[in-house]
Amino acid sequence: MHLSPVGTSRRCFLASLALCALVLLLIPTLQTQPRQGKLPQPLPRGRSSSCEGANNAIGLSVTGLPTVDAKFQGVQGDAHFSVSGSRSREALELKDIFIAVKTTRKYHKSRLQLLFQTWVSKAKEQTFIFTDGEDKELRQKAGGNVINTNCSAAHTRQALCCKMSVEYDKFIESQKKWFCHVDDDNYVILPSLQRLLSSYSHTQDVYLGRPSLDHPIEAAERVKSDGSTSVKFWFATGGAGFCISRGLALKMSPWASLGNFITTAEKIRLPDDCTIGYIIEALLEVSLTHTHLFHSHLENLQRMPADDILNQVTLSYGGFENRRNVVPIAGMFSLAEDPSRFKTVHCLLYPETDWCPRNIHH
Ligand SMILES: *[C@@H]1O[C@H](CO)[C@@H](O)[C@H](O)[C@H]1NC(C)=O
Repeated sequence: MHLSPVGTSRRCFLASLALCALVLLLIPTLQTQPRQGKLPQPLPRGRSSSCEGANNAIGLSVTGLPTVDAKFQGVQGDAHFSVSGSRSREALELKDIFIAVKTTRKYHKSRLQLLFQTWVSKAKEQTFIFTDGEDKELRQKAGGNVINTNCSAAHTRQALCCKMSVEYDKFIESQKKWFCHVDDDNYVILPSLQRLLSSYSHTQDVYLGRPSLDHPIEAAERVKSDGSTSVKFWFATGGAGFCISRGLALKMSPWASLGNFITTAEKIRLPDDCTIGYIIEALLEVSLTHTHLFHSHLENLQRMPADDILNQVTLSYGGFENRRNVVPIAGMFSLAEDPSRFKTVHCLLYPETDWCPRNIHH
């Protein structure tokens, strides 16, 4: 067969280009391996510095390769790398957010009813109630969105971690873009939540919440049966609610899915929200994004500036017994009619609601 000299040199050139490309593709694989060795357990992909800053070329060359991540993330795997390091706007709809409300049977009437009357009514499809006892009335109201975790109703570390474990699994199953966990004494200001989450990409590693302490927690991590080492990490307080992007949630799988969450919690003997922080900050080396838009009943809520209340993401209430700890929002309903102020907040956000004062008389 006759090959022209031009054709041959072009083939040689193309072949060497292909070889170069192959070598470039192999570099990141060879380089990232030693890094993963530092961690107590294998990371699906080192978050460290390999995809950010100086190593841009490596970040780009990884894009086309099937990675462990891509397998977990399906078709969205590729987008992960191209947006890494920068905030990107995406049209996030409310239906893309999975909202888990943690409750217990004894609060179905006193706390959940208020949530169904207010914010949950605006996010029925994507709000899931995680409880510990069957309740026909609740089942009629919320149907398949009520999940009986079969966890103990005790307020113990084990029972709380059991519920969180079920929440995690249901979120993964849901295919939604964001996981947000709240308690049954939280009001979720949905427009604020949607706005906050749309400033991030769900394929990035995002862990958003309010740190419960002003310093990282230090925990003893049981390594083997005898020894233990100390780890320091931040965690978002569960009582104020927190959100995790799908990209990050998928990476948590080895320590969080199918009952592994309970094993992980036992390793550090800390509650559910601390365990989430431990998996994300200590094991996956992803930092908590601190936000003060989430609020728990442990704060002094009376100090919140009234003008700012509707811009927050979550609110709470507490301490009706001795002292009312509620957000300082006046009008609409009296304190006796609306002790938590949730109805007032709801009517300011959705004045068209039929039970809101201005509509009651027609
Ligand atoms: C709880 O138990 C019921 C009845 O056995 C079962 O149908 C349900 O799937 C269980 N829930 C979970 C989250 O495993």
